[in-house]
Amino acid sequence: MVDALGVAVVGFGWMGRVHTQAYARVVHHFPGLPLRPEPVVVAEEVPGRAEEAAAQYGFASTTRDWRDVAADPRVRAVSITAPNFLHREIGVAMAEAGKHIWIEKPVGLTAEDARAVADAVAKAGVQGAVGFNYRNAPAVEAARDLIASGGIGRVTHARVRLFSDYAAHPEGALTWRYERERGGSGVLGDLASHGADLARFLLGDITSLSADTAVFLPERARPTGATAGHSRASGGEMGAVENEDYVNCLLRFASGARGVLEACRVSVGEQNNYGFEVHGTEGAVFWDFRRMNELGVSRGTGYQDQPVSTVYVGPGDGEFGAFQPGAANAMGYDDLKVIEAYRFLRSVAEGVPYGATLADAVRSATVLDAMARSAEERAWVTVDAPA
Ligand SMILES: NC(=O)c1ccc[n+]([C@@H]2O[C@H](COP(=O)([O-])OP(=O)(O)OC[C@H]3O[C@@H](n4cnc5c(N)ncnc54)[C@H](O)[C@@H]3O)[C@@H](O)[C@H]2O)c1
Repeated sequence: MVDALGVAVVGFGWMGRVHTQAYARVVHHFPGLPLRPEPVVVAEEVPGRAEEAAAQYGFASTTRDWRDVAADPRVRAVSITAPNFLHREIGVAMAEAGKHIWIEKPVGLTAEDARAVADAVAKAGVQGAVGFNYRNAPAVEAARDLIASGGIGRVTHARVRLFSDYAAHPEGALTWRYERERGGSGVLGDLASHGADLARFLLGDITSLSADTAVFLPERARPTGATAGHSRASGGEMGAVENEDYVNCLLRFASGARGVLEACRVSVGEQNNYGFEVHGTEGAVFWDFRRMNELGVSRGTGYQDQPVSTVYVGPGDGEFGAFQPGAANAMGYDDLKVIEAYRFLRSVAEGVPYGATLADAVRSATVLDAMARSAEERAWVTVDAPA
């Protein structure tokens, strides 16, 4: 028996669209799901954008005010895909209204914001999924399994990188992303949040770190019209970029392993160069998002000159089998969001969490806060332990 689940989307920019498409596709890929999402209402403040979304994706109604969503009894689950400064207020309000939430990273501007949403979700007894999509890649799950089973020996050190050029163009508009008040941190929340989650997903908790940050493009033009994603602007009044373009960070893990995390949003020549290298006493595993379905694996007893093999993930690795019948048929970015939707809806159906939760968002945000503190103090800092 498949029940309909009324869903709403708040903020119909890039992520709003991707969540909506994931709700539409999830039943095709996961026919065993006992819930079928039904698009009830989309909330968006840019005039006309919600109406376009409704016409294209079949939302029954639209609103300019997200509070209407909280009050709507047809809505049981809400995607919160608005800018970061709204995550806390909307997340808490939706949970208090008894709605399950699927909220985008970084969940607010600070760890305190993420914790407020996590507390509201726990208090209301609803499910809370978070958009750490890279951990949904079957190859990342396979890497985690390999590491956890001792397949590369004892982990010694790792590098996590997230390099992008999305903010490299001098005409990249001064959107909410570059303001403290609406975006919070810069590349920390945007990309390093994923890196902190991946590092922890693969290697466990980070206990201390030392970070340095920089702003490389200090001014941008204010947009003269509505923006979505990484819009361009020229001719607008110039304004200051208030948060960091770049971070590098040394990490110490509870396991004793060492790591390096580096993220940049203005790397010319780097298009979504996200990935990791994890080294152990007997091997190593390498992943590059741009070749999302492959792992580089070195293992054995050779130690020196030990070869590296390319492994294509296939059915049996994570949720790969829900998308492709055999290894080396490519999955893409949006498929990671379909997996996220599946895990969210399964959590709602079964009342137990699957996939990244608000507890994971709190841990990632705590690491980001520590990075900001370390950069400010120019010192190693301890990462607050989980509460
Ligand atoms: N998981 C990922 O890989 C990933 C990728 C990109 C963005 N994100 C996250 O998703 C969120 C949204 O990012 P985006 O790139 O989609 O941004 P975006 O600017 O493209 O979209 C945000 C939308 O929210 C709307 N909005 C703003 N205020 C609103 C309000 N009060 N009520 C309703 N709608 C409102 C904007 O008009 C816009 O359409 C951010 O938190 C970002 O960090 C996650």
